[in-house]
Amino acid sequence: MEITASAPGKAILFGEHAVVYGKPAIAVAVDRKAYVTLKKREDKRVHVKINDLNLSGFLDLEKSEVKVENLNKKPEKKGILNYILSAVLKVQKGALQGMDIEIDLEIPIGAGLGSSAAITVATIAAVSKFNRMELSKDEIAEHAHNVELEVQGAASHIDTTLSTYGGMIYLSKNAEDIKPIKISGNLPLVVGYTEERGNTGELVESVKLKKETYPEAVNPILNAIESVTDDAVDALLEKDEKRIGELMNINHGLLDALGVNTGDLSRMAYTARRAGALGSKITGAGGGGSIIAYCPGKVEEVIKSIKKMDKAFNAALSVDGVKVKVKK
Ligand code: PMV
Repeated sequence: MEITASAPGKAILFGEHAVVYGKPAIAVAVDRKAYVTLKKREDKRVHVKINDLNLSGFLDLEKSEVKVENLNKKPEKKGILNYILSAVLKVQKGALQGMDIEIDLEIPIGAGLGSSAAITVATIAAVSKFNRMELSKDEIAEHAHNVELEVQGAASHIDTTLSTYGGMIYLSKNAEDIKPIKISGNLPLVVGYTEERGNTGELVESVKLKKETYPEAVNPILNAIESVTDDAVDALLEKDEKRIGELMNINHGLLDALGVNTGDLSRMAYTARRAGALGSKITGAGGGGSIIAYCPGKVEEVIKSIKKMDKAFNAALSVDGVKVKVKK
């Protein structure tokens, strides 16, 4: 028996950083997935292989430890094994059955696109199925959020919610509520990214320091991001393309003012606009990582232009969340 689970990554459309101060945010699941394939092993070991990283290792479930076996590229990325270990432990039931877990990614790891949440959600879905547990999506999302809390120390619900349910969400003020934003048709989005990425924790800290040092300047910026985000909900529901694009550009400028922009991100954002995107902005923490561009009728042109110097892909909205397939 072979079980494959897939879960999409995410991009924040509006409100990053301000969300840390209780402001709202809008985020979408993007049609780029993490795939987790699981097969039974004859021994009791849990072996993990992440093809894109050339990384493999064993999970010692008894000691809650990861033993790295092979790591040819990007040693800084081996931390992803901790999410998988914690996810496997969350849905263990009865005597341990050995398994081979293989992971394939369409999302770059560590580019602010929710790769760890997508891997966590897909692992929980696949392993729970393997252990004959029937989990609801709510239960998968809850376990996945707990994995993120355990591994990262702090986490919002944005990434794990989108990887589980798909679609687009509005996280309301003070994270009181997560509501789906339902639009008809697709959102023509392109993600551009560099290999360099900022450290989310450090960037959040740098904004906090700016806020403490220049409260009179920074508080109005956070309020402006809130206004842009709330206005964007209407623009998205009304499919007002021009307004969606302009609001993204304003949000980009406000993030620049908070100090999380970089030369690479600017280059990608302006390349996208020159190639016909109606709007473009940093997505996620900034300091490197990714931009997102809104490109009605211009997706291919924008991808081609960004690719001259950086990497880019079509990031259409994923209506689907986590999915599981069983092959006998
Ligand atoms: O690094 P990412 O893409 O997961 O985005 C972080 C978003 C922030 O608002 C900067 C931080 C947060 O925890 O919400």
